Amino acid sequence: MARVLLGVCGGIAAYKAAALTSALVQRGDRVDVIMSESATHFVGSLTFAALSGNPVLTSLWDAPESIPHIALVRAADVFAIVPATANALAKLARGFADDLLSNAALAARVPLVVAPAMNAAMYEHPATRENLRLLVERGVTIVEPDTGFLAERETGVGRLAERDAILAAIDAALARTRELTGQRVLITAGPTREAIDPVRFLSNASTGTMGIELAREALARGAAVTLVLGPTLVAAPAEAHVVRVTSAQEMCDAALAGFSGADVAIATAAVADWRPAESYAQKVKKSDGPATLALERTPDILATLGARKAGTFLVGFAAETENHERNAREKLQRKHLDAIAVNDVSGGAGFGTGDDEIVLLWGDAGRKALGTGSKRVLARALWDALDVLRARN
Ligand code: C5P
Repeated sequence: MARVLLGVCGGIAAYKAAALTSALVQRGDRVDVIMSESATHFVGSLTFAALSGNPVLTSLWDAPESIPHIALVRAADVFAIVPATANALAKLARGFADDLLSNAALAARVPLVVAPAMNAAMYEHPATRENLRLLVERGVTIVEPDTGFLAERETGVGRLAERDAILAAIDAALARTRELTGQRVLITAGPTREAIDPVRFLSNASTGTMGIELAREALARGAAVTLVLGPTLVAAPAEAHVVRVTSAQEMCDAALAGFSGADVAIATAAVADWRPAESYAQKVKKSDGPATLALERTPDILATLGARKAGTFLVGFAAETENHERNAREKLQRKHLDAIAVNDVSGGAGFGTGDDEIVLLWGDAGRKALGTGSKRVLARALWDALDVLRARN
């Protein structure tokens, strides 16, 4: 039994949301309905009240308590908006909050499942495409509309998806939120800095974004997350236990401390492989600085975890510029990993917040291409793939 918050927008397909409410109630879910003002022109709120067995809210101003949207979203397990109009998509994408439904969507921290329905021209308009892209980017599940007979008595794309497809999307969103419940996840992320003197260091261009997105997705799936994070300006999720470190040695110590009892450990950090053999206590003067820097190796954190692992599912990353998969498979074996995510960083791709392409490798020949996309989208695809792999193990 789940608590479903159902947002109904003002489109012809609003009547189909009534059948959806009934299906959810019949299978034992609790449904609370918020209707936009325009939705009430298509279907009376009494229909939803009767089907759900709960009062229907339509306005910020007619509820017994002063901020009804906050209480509703906090109590919900999933928030489904069916149908979502072009206007609703625009408001969701841009964060407008000018009625009860849009306020609730902005306040929600539960998974959002959005089923658009509208005229084909509106659906295909670049503004709507852009709004949908933004929502996908943010982790919202979009239940694509079907192509079929539309209210305008013509055939086109924009017909609300079938009820079973919407129910399946709600179930998938619910399952995802519970997938890592009670599990502990350790993630290393970001660069390290290896001091030459108090103001100079050796480092690299990593921003930690991939690890931060993996942490965010793990939290959304119910895990307790420890994020060991090197120096970065990218914000870490507040719900994670964030351990800030600077050098490879500090990162290694923090990772080892968080490793025992972890169900999954993922090393995304771009750890400096070398550090100055000597680090000066005072800023080195131009005039008497060394012409060459003597270097020594830093600890290989992932290999250290691999040598000690007992039951933890260990995942590494391989940023490669050539022979990607061969090099990654060699790392998989050598560092005793359960899986390795390979990305191509030739030309600088892979670092920063741009798009990425990831292939996941495991065992002797296991391989799954996770596609190309933002780190947000790839983090979800990676956790989906890890979930399947771990279930097999
Ligand atoms: O050997 P290589 O550096 O290419 O391996 C990359 C993987 O190993 C990444 O998962 C990275 O986070 C991890 N690593 C590490 N400690 C190092 C070097 C790499 O944990 N010193």
